[in-house]
Amino acid sequence: MNIKGYAIAALAALLCFNTPASGKEPVTLHIIPQPQSVVMEKGGFKMSGAAINCDDKFGEEIRRCIQAFANDLTLASGKMSSFAAPNGLASTIAKGNFKGVAFLKDGSLEDEEYSISVSTRSVLVKASSLNGVLYAIETIKQMLPEQVYGHAGSSPMKMTIPCVTIKDKPRFGYRGMHLDCSRHFFSIDEIKKYLDVMAMYKLNRFHWHLTDDQGWRIEIKQYPELTIEGAFRSGTMIGRDFNSNDGIRYGGYYTQEQVKDIIAYAARKGITVIPEIDLPGHMLAALSAYPELGCSGGPYEPWTKWGVSEQVLCPGKEDTFTFLEGVLSEIAELFPSEYIHIGGDECPKSEWENCPDCQALITKLGLKDVNGFSAEQYLQCYVTARMQEFLAGKGKKIIGWDEILEGELAEGATVMSWRGVDGGIKAAELGFNAIMTPTTYCYFDYCQAKEKELEPIGIGGYIPLETIYGYEPMEGMPAGGEGHVLGVQANLWTEYIASNEHLEYMLLPRMLALSEVQWCKPENKDFDRFKDSLTGHHFGILDRLGYTYSKVILGIHGFNKQ
Ligand code: ACM
Ligand code: ZN
Repeated sequence: MNIKGYAIAALAALLCFNTPASGKEPVTLHIIPQPQSVVMEKGGFKMSGAAINCDDKFGEEIRRCIQAFANDLTLASGKMSSFAAPNGLASTIAKGNFKGVAFLKDGSLEDEEYSISVSTRSVLVKASSLNGVLYAIETIKQMLPEQVYGHAGSSPMKMTIPCVTIKDKPRFGYRGMHLDCSRHFFSIDEIKKYLDVMAMYKLNRFHWHLTDDQGWRIEIKQYPELTIEGAFRSGTMIGRDFNSNDGIRYGGYYTQEQVKDIIAYAARKGITVIPEIDLPGHMLAALSAYPELGCSGGPYEPWTKWGVSEQVLCPGKEDTFTFLEGVLSEIAELFPSEYIHIGGDECPKSEWENCPDCQALITKLGLKDVNGFSAEQYLQCYVTARMQEFLAGKGKKIIGWDEILEGELAEGATVMSWRGVDGGIKAAELGFNAIMTPTTYCYFDYCQAKEKELEPIGIGGYIPLETIYGYEPMEGMPAGGEGHVLGVQANLWTEYIASNEHLEYMLLPRMLALSEVQWCKPENKDFDRFKDSLTGHHFGILDRLGYTYSKVILGIHGFNKQ
């Protein structure tokens, strides 16, 4: 759309906000995720040039993001929106003649809760925390014309929001999005763009998959070979041909300084970064750097293919634990998150069955094939428990993929249910916390259209927008187990995703549907309303911000410029 087109669309949107559809019914706002409670009234408030005031009880970080909002507004409307944090703002408002926009601290609200009250004279925003303030700003921006996003080069325009009272808070505290940076490597700039769109839709956990068979992606100072050797593979399979190799050296890694930059950037957007060091399987890249940590001693190479390597860490050698503790010490030091993800998925046991060191440890620990699990599965439980205990000593809790439930699991671990929903249900039954990321709803590497041949190459599977939107995470949970469900996350594995455009295409707009699963009470979900908001407003926002996204819902396939 050209600038004129945007101006016409925005004007139409404004008229729509202020004109009840049938004279009585309130007009639906295009907010995603839909707030808990929205009560529309007649009239609107002119945001262009409105003074933005901030409670002096808010700290520096919150002030900065309110000031950034004032700047966005000024640039988009072409009229100066001043910013101030005056003393006694709350009592000025209580006196009743306040005009303008005020952000107030209200300690009675929950951590991520906020309210917005818009009259023809004022906009009053209340929140108790950074996330509450950020979410209120995102909601206000979504009520404004699209020009408030990506305003560079736009003509200034009048900005009005309708009179409305919004009270809002999330259904789940954990609202995650995962990214695999091992199979393909994504730049710091692209990760920031990923975090930006997560924040716009009120997601608050970034699960960063940093290590796997195909590449080790984080600098570990005690083990420099991990990134000298393990961060680069000699080539990559071509398309779906597992016997091919393009012969092109491929790789990259994040320095600890870059990791700190990402953590700080995410924190300013209300997002916690949870790193994943996947162990004891998915470790071929680490073994290529330190072959003595494998059962056979190598040599090993980072994998050039997709799929699961049989070659895994050897828990029969004590040096393996020295290595893991060294790596996890640096990870625990770097990441402020209370959780560290230690993977645990898809760890083949064939090497352990034939390794004298592993078998000696199994004998020493007295592990047996019992309760339907093999001694080697219990050996993995031993690795998990040691890492859990080590990290507990550093004040951290573990998350693991649902394989960590095979055998026995120590109290306090959180299970990420990925092989369907059963892992989450079993975890809740056993009293463990769970995060729901089932392949059946939450795998964004799956195709989003039935016509796979018209879509970019993918891993297979089919998860359209309606499917993710329709996911109900409490379904099948045991009575009383609901409290163990911390939240929901979607995963984006990147075996077949080599470019930023392809990555964003797989993410969007499905992440917007995910945001309603994570945020909204079931009674506030409505796919038709969501779809109208998506195509009527959010596609325009994503366009302005330069995101690539799927338009399959409009019958358009693929991500080449259309
Ligand atoms: C997984 O998808 N292997 C957790
Ligand atoms: Zn071994």
